[in-house]
Amino acid sequence: MDILFIGPPGSGKGTQAVKLAERKKLKHLSTGDLFRKHLKEKSSLGQQVQLYIDKGELVPDRLTNDMVEVFLKELSLEEKIIFDGFPRNLFQASALDQMLKQAGRQLAHVFYFEIADDQVVDRLTGRLWAPKSGCIYHIRNKPPQKAGICDQSGEALIVRSDDKEEIVRSRLKVFHENTKPLIDYYEKKGLLNRISAETSPETVFQSLLKALEGKSG
Ligand code: AP5
Repeated sequence: MDILFIGPPGSGKGTQAVKLAERKKLKHLSTGDLFRKHLKEKSSLGQQVQLYIDKGELVPDRLTNDMVEVFLKELSLEEKIIFDGFPRNLFQASALDQMLKQAGRQLAHVFYFEIADDQVVDRLTGRLWAPKSGCIYHIRNKPPQKAGICDQSGEALIVRSDDKEEIVRSRLKVFHENTKPLIDYYEKKGLLNRISAETSPETVFQSLLKALEGKSG
C-alpha cells in the first residue's frame, strides 16, 4: 500500500503523513525533510541544495531522484511508504515509476490536497517545526503545550527559513508550474483522490482513512 501525497506547500501533507505513518505503520519519505537533514549536517548534498531551498526552487531532478533511490533501497518490500513531496514534476514522476517497477512496488493511492493560495500563506507564515520528531505546529491554529517546545520530543521548535512570505509565494508558483501537471498524470492512471485540505486536520485525516479503507493493497 504505497501512498503518494501531492499538494501545494502548506496544504498539510507533512502533518497528515506523520499521523498516517504512525497509525498505519508506514515509512514516511519527505524529500523536504531529507534535504533539511543534509543541510543541518552540512553534507556535500546539503551544500549543493542550499541555494535552491533558500529560494524556494526545486532541487535538480538528478540529486532528488538519487536521494529517493537510496531511501528505497534501504527498505524491504514489506515496509510500505508515504511519498510526501516527491515527485514534483513529470520527470520525477516517470523516474519514480521506474524505481517502483525495479523494486517490485506499486502505488495504491495518490492524494491531492486541494487548498487556495491565500490559506497557504497564512498557514506557512505561522508554522513551527521540530526537526528531530518531525512534528508540525502552528502558532495560532495548533500551538504546542509549552511555547517553543515540541510536545513529543521536548526539543526546541524552529521557523523554517523558506517560510518567509516572499519565498512561500515563489514555492506556490513552482507548484502551479511544475507539480500541477501530476494531477492529470495520476488521474489518467486511475489513482487520484482529491482531498479538501481546507478543513480541520482531523477532518482531513478521517477523509484519508475513509479513502484507504475503500481500497486495500
Ligand atoms: P517541502 O519540505 O516538501 O515543502 P512543501 O512541499 O513546500 O510543503 P510544506 O512542508 O511547506 O507543507 P506541507 O504540505 O507539508 O504542510 P504542513 O503539514 O507542514 O520542500 C521544501 C523544499 O525542498 C522545496 O521548496 C524544494 O526546494 C525542496 N524539495 C523538496 N522536495 C523536492 C523534490 N521532490 N524535488 C525538488 N526539490 C524538492 O502544514 C503547514 C502548516 O499548516 C503547519 O503550521 C500546520 O500546523 C498547519 N496545518 C496543517 N494542516 C492544517 C489544517 N487542516 N488546518 C489548519 N492548519 C493546518
